[in-house]
Amino acid sequence: MTKQAPQFLETDRLKLRHWRKDDLEPFARLNGDRRVMEWFPKMLDRDETAAFIKYIQDHFETHRFGLWAVEIKESGEFIGFVGLWKPKFEADFTPCVEVGWRLLAEHWGQGFAPEAAIASIDDGFERIGLDEIMSFTSIHNKKSIRVMEKLGLTRQADFEHPQLPEGHFLRPHVRYSIRKEDWHRA
Ligand SMILES: CC(C)(COP(=O)(O)OP(=O)(O)OC[C@H]1O[C@@H](n2cnc3c(N)ncnc32)[C@H](O)[C@@H]1OP(=O)(O)O)[C@@H](O)C(=O)NCCC(=O)NCCS
Repeated sequence: MTKQAPQFLETDRLKLRHWRKDDLEPFARLNGDRRVMEWFPKMLDRDETAAFIKYIQDHFETHRFGLWAVEIKESGEFIGFVGLWKPKFEADFTPCVEVGWRLLAEHWGQGFAPEAAIASIDDGFERIGLDEIMSFTSIHNKKSIRVMEKLGLTRQADFEHPQLPEGHFLRPHVRYSIRKEDWHRA
């Protein structure tokens, strides 16, 4: 059985930790920012953000891994989430585990998402014992696709996201993945 999730993961500049009550305010700001949510079907208000945090915490309880709250070590500032989770939709490649990220816009462009994702993927292959980790996003989300490529994930067949209606501009998705034997960072 997968070992209990550690209290936190660490990188040179970042701490990936469990969620605290005071994350709600900056996380709600992030989920209500049009720039951050450009490639999502809708933004989230404060109540929806609180429900999302509860969902993330339940996911940690159930699966012993999840989306970490990420903070800058030097300042202690919350900057968003990075981590692993199990998508809820069904497709020919599910069940699977996805690496995902969402950061406050003022912290983009400093390599924080890939730095935190490396720690999450290491944890996924070592402690959790996964064979493969995937990542998905809208075909329009160039910044996220760039992070996938910088991490060394490779593009698989595109797919239509089943949770979005046919014809929706966000329905076409890319799918990237990496297998444990191809992950050379550990
Ligand atoms: C995707 C995301 C997590 C990237 O995080 P990050 O820490 O900025 O990642 P990086 O610093 O490695 O930047 C990734 C690429 O984005 C581009 N980028 C960074 N900041 C940018 C900005 N302010 N405007 C436009 N492009 C930018 C750069 O081209 C960079 O690639 P490069 O390293 O080859 O120059 C962040 O943009 C984000 O939170 N986006 C909104 C949420 C989202 O789309 N999540 C994924 C949904 S599946």
